[in-house]
Amino acid sequence: MDYSIFKGRRILVTGSTGFKGSWLCTWLLHLGAEVSGFALAPAADAPLFDQLNLRNRIDQHDGDIRDLDTVRAMMSATQPEIIFHLAAQPLVRYSYDEPKETFDTNVSGAVNLLEAVRENEGVKALVFVTSDKAYRNKEWIWGYRENDELGGHDPYSASKAAAELVFASYQDSFFKNRQGFAAASVRAGNVIGGGDMSLDRIVPDCIRAMKNGDEIVLRNPNSTRPWQHVLEPLSGYMAVAAKLLTDPDETIGAWNFGPDAENVRTVEELTKTAIDIWGNGSLRIERDENQPHEANLLMLISDKAKSLLGWRVHWDFTAAVTNTVQWYKRVDAGEDPIKVTDEQLDTFVGDAK
Ligand SMILES: NC(=O)c1ccc[n+]([C@@H]2O[C@H](COP(=O)([O-])OP(=O)(O)OC[C@H]3O[C@@H](n4cnc5c(N)ncnc54)[C@H](O)[C@@H]3O)[C@@H](O)[C@H]2O)c1
Repeated sequence: MDYSIFKGRRILVTGSTGFKGSWLCTWLLHLGAEVSGFALAPAADAPLFDQLNLRNRIDQHDGDIRDLDTVRAMMSATQPEIIFHLAAQPLVRYSYDEPKETFDTNVSGAVNLLEAVRENEGVKALVFVTSDKAYRNKEWIWGYRENDELGGHDPYSASKAAAELVFASYQDSFFKNRQGFAAASVRAGNVIGGGDMSLDRIVPDCIRAMKNGDEIVLRNPNSTRPWQHVLEPLSGYMAVAAKLLTDPDETIGAWNFGPDAENVRTVEELTKTAIDIWGNGSLRIERDENQPHEANLLMLISDKAKSLLGWRVHWDFTAAVTNTVQWYKRVDAGEDPIKVTDEQLDTFVGDAK
């Protein structure tokens, strides 16, 4: 895909200090964009932003999206043409502990961002990131299309479905007739990739255990997830942003970015593959019937992105897991995280040609 349209553009990434945000900022820098970031300062369990020295490579604004004045001030300071909105409380299990924080960040925070977009005529394109979990999970075997029903059981999923409704309301009420502006929401599933250290995510949990010589304990080994490398949906988000600029009428709406059906694997399969690539590690299965409800199967159908954007998955399950675990392994062995990330990005872009 040709992303040369981003060269020299002022681009804002909210959630810049997070896992996906750090990879996205890195990619946009490679493309010659002028990148600004907005997010909370990186948490102790989110080292990637600092590992990639992004504070010195982008125009970073630390702030809380729950505060409208802060968002307004950041928008005036950064004057973006293109926005990727990723800032969120993204963890399902944490959302059971902190539902209000989750809704405040993911729904009210999104309202604040949309307000600031409404007030800033210089913004030309907005890519609004939600999740595959925004779909009402029917726990059926079929995948979900962009026009399927939204909804959510746990607070995180509900917050992302609610964010979609808020986004659609701003689109219909304020953005539809705004000249020179277009927006789309993007929905992807679980992503893996180097540098994520979030709690309660399977790959970071495996890496922590393997580094410490601990057993990897799986609660739901048979849960299937549509695994994909973080660069896959990011390439989709960027394709949407590019098309919002060149072909806005065809691009507004929602877009799914999920892996192909062969990449839908169990948590156990992912863990065993990660152990193989890391070189050592052990696994214990400990079923706990008292776990909070977590959705079982959720698969996205990405036909729309494939036919209208020419988007494709470039790394299959094995390539995605291999690149992910290799990233941690190489950095653990003392290699420069920027070099490892740049090399993986170049390989991905090469494979995508
Ligand atoms: N990682 C996944 O598997 C996955 C899957 C589907 C959707 N998503 C979505 O992608 C986006 C990025 O996820 P991620 O995995 O990078 O998460 P992450 O936790 O690594 O990053 C979240 C980012 O949001 C910022 N943020 C959180 N609360 C904030 C607040 N109150 N004010 C300002 N910034 C705040 C954090 O500082 C961080 O920069 C999220 O919207 C998430 O819901 C992620």
